Amino acid sequence: MESEYKLLGGAMVTLALATATLVVVPYLQLSTVPPSPGLQPYTSEQLRGRDQYIKNGCVYCHTQQPRAVSQAPDAARGWGRAPVAGDYFYDRPHLLGTMRTGPDLLNIGARQPSADWQLGHLYQPRAYVPGSIMPSYPFMFELKDKAEPGDKVVNLPPAYAPIGQVVVARPEANDIVAYLLALDRTYPIALPPGLEAASTNEK
Ligand code: HEC
Repeated sequence: MESEYKLLGGAMVTLALATATLVVVPYLQLSTVPPSPGLQPYTSEQLRGRDQYIKNGCVYCHTQQPRAVSQAPDAARGWGRAPVAGDYFYDRPHLLGTMRTGPDLLNIGARQPSADWQLGHLYQPRAYVPGSIMPSYPFMFELKDKAEPGDKVVNLPPAYAPIGQVVVARPEANDIVAYLLALDRTYPIALPPGLEAASTNEK
C-alpha cells in the first residue's frame, strides 16, 4: 500500500508544480501588463471578422507571432518585429497559432493594406499567388448579374473574373478583411528595462 501512496503523492506534487509554473506564475507576471501605447482596440466590425478568422480555421495555417531576430529571420521576411505581451492586450483568446503553412499575419495590415487585394485573395488565392495552397472561400461572396448600390464589388484579375457577372463580398468577407487590415503592430515599443539602459548611451 505504501508505494501506492508515494506514487499518488508524487503525481500530485508534479501536477501542482506544473500548474504553478505553466499557469499561476505566467498569470501573475502578465495579468497587469497594460496595452502597448500604439495599440488600438478592435471595432465591432473587426471583432466580427476575428470570429470569422477563428470559425474558418485561418489560425490552423497562420501564426501571429513573428520571432525575434536572434531566433529566426522573420523580420527579414517582412513579418515585423518580435511582439511584446502588451501587443495582445485586446486578443481574447489570443490567436498566436502553432502552424506556419502560410506566412505570419500579425502585421498583414501594414504589409498588404489593400482591401481589394485581401478580398480578391480570399475569393481566389491563386489569382494573386500562382500555386498557392491556401483554400479559397467562395461562400463568403455572391455572384450577381449587376452590382446594386452599396455592394462591395471585388476587382479580380481579368483571367479569374466570372464572365458577365460581378463578384460581391458578403458581410463576413468585409468583416474578415477589416480584421486583417487592423493587424498592424508596427508601432514602436519601449524596450524591456534591461535593454533600455544599453540602448540609451547618449546623454
Ligand atoms: C491550408 C492552410 C491555409 C489556411 C486554412 C488559410 N491560409 Fe492563408 N495562406 C496560406 C498560404 C500557404 C499562403 C501563402 C500563399 C498565398 O499568399 O496565397 C497564405 C497567404 C495568406 C495571406 C497573404 C499573406 C502575405 O504575407 O502575403 C493572407 C492575408 C491570408 N493567407 C489570410 C488567410 C485567412 C484570412 C484565412 C482564413 C479565412 C486563411 N488565410 C486560411 C495557407 C492557408
